Amino acid sequence: MAPKKQPLENESSTPTAIPGLNLNQLVDHLPCYITIQDRDLRILFVNDKFKKDFGNGVGKKCHTVYKCSADICPNCPVQKSFENRCAHIAEETVKLANGGISQLLIQTSPIIDNNGVVTAVIEMATNITQQKKDRKELVTLGQSIALLSHGIKNILEGLQGGAYIVDEGFKDGDIAMAQKGWNIVNKNIFDIADVVQNILYSSKDRPLKYERVSPGQLVKDSLALFREKAAGLNIELKQQINESVPGVRLDIASIRRMLNNLIWNALEACLNDKQKNDHFVSVKTDLLDDDHFIFEIADNGIGMDQDTQRNIYEEFFSTKGSSGTGLGLTVVEKVVNRHGGKIEVTSTPGKGTTFKLIFKIK
Ligand SMILES: Nc1ncnc2c1ncn2[C@@H]1O[C@H](COP(=O)(O)OP(=O)(O)OP(=O)(O)O)[C@@H](O)[C@H]1O
Ligand SMILES: [Mg+2]
Repeated sequence: MAPKKQPLENESSTPTAIPGLNLNQLVDHLPCYITIQDRDLRILFVNDKFKKDFGNGVGKKCHTVYKCSADICPNCPVQKSFENRCAHIAEETVKLANGGISQLLIQTSPIIDNNGVVTAVIEMATNITQQKKDRKELVTLGQSIALLSHGIKNILEGLQGGAYIVDEGFKDGDIAMAQKGWNIVNKNIFDIADVVQNILYSSKDRPLKYERVSPGQLVKDSLALFREKAAGLNIELKQQINESVPGVRLDIASIRRMLNNLIWNALEACLNDKQKNDHFVSVKTDLLDDDHFIFEIADNGIGMDQDTQRNIYEEFFSTKGSSGTGLGLTVVEKVVNRHGGKIEVTSTPGKGTTFKLIFKIK
């Protein structure tokens, strides 16, 4: 028989080597949730971190604590470890005691006694909510770059074309030609700024900066940006402002972005409607009741069928081919949600569309 190895001085793998830390405390200090469960998925042991976020679940079934559900999760890794005596990994969305939702990476391992029987399963769950969010943002960014590169290329070609006409105009001393080129450059600068701002708004949540502002003034400012464009497209821009809507606290930059996206969509809807000759886009702000006010953007453009209406807030959903990135309404919805507001849409194909945005007066 090989001689038993004597531990060297200070050589020990047990946590008691760290003064004041025993095995239980070590488990409590782990930055993940530890549970031990029996064959019925009844919790036998939990560490401190688990108790803090889910309450003391000992004696309860795992799925009732993690999911508030009477049903066992499909593909439960604990059950699998009982069945095949192997380690398993799964991802689950769970509900915390405070009502929050978290995503967990779950790893399970069987505890096997001397007779080879699985007596329990130990489960280690790591909160990966932030990592999932970061991953989603990266995926969105990757998709954005792929999808947007085509649209951006078109705009850059427009810029080059405009700049060329400006050059030629100057070379020939033809100011009218230079002016025409400059208008093209200007339009494309506007378009590229719009695309870039939508990418930024849809991919990153910057903190909102609330300031008191008059909704009527915001409507006037946004309409001013589109006056020339609408006139060039022969679309009438109407404005209806109820001056008794009081100043309200809003994040001005994001509300402007929201209005610009809706007005531009309305203009494009008119442009794409080949059935009518006279088109309008009307922008209104009014009181809804004592506590709420509205912005309303209406057009008599091409309208939307039910299928389109169901998808309009989806990221990258667009019916405009390479001239639409499909981010405009994603940004609109995000801005409204972050302000605690509500959107109502009514649309009839061939007749037009109305977006009504309802906000609390605060
Ligand atoms: N006023 C409207 N009338 C008719 N269809 C609309 C209107 N507003 C939005 N849509 C539909 O919703 C889709 C999504 O709009 P969204 O603004 O998100 O993207 P987009 O306009 O296609 O591209 P972009 O990101 O450049 O704004 C549009 O492609 C269009 O089909
Ligand atoms: Mg749009």
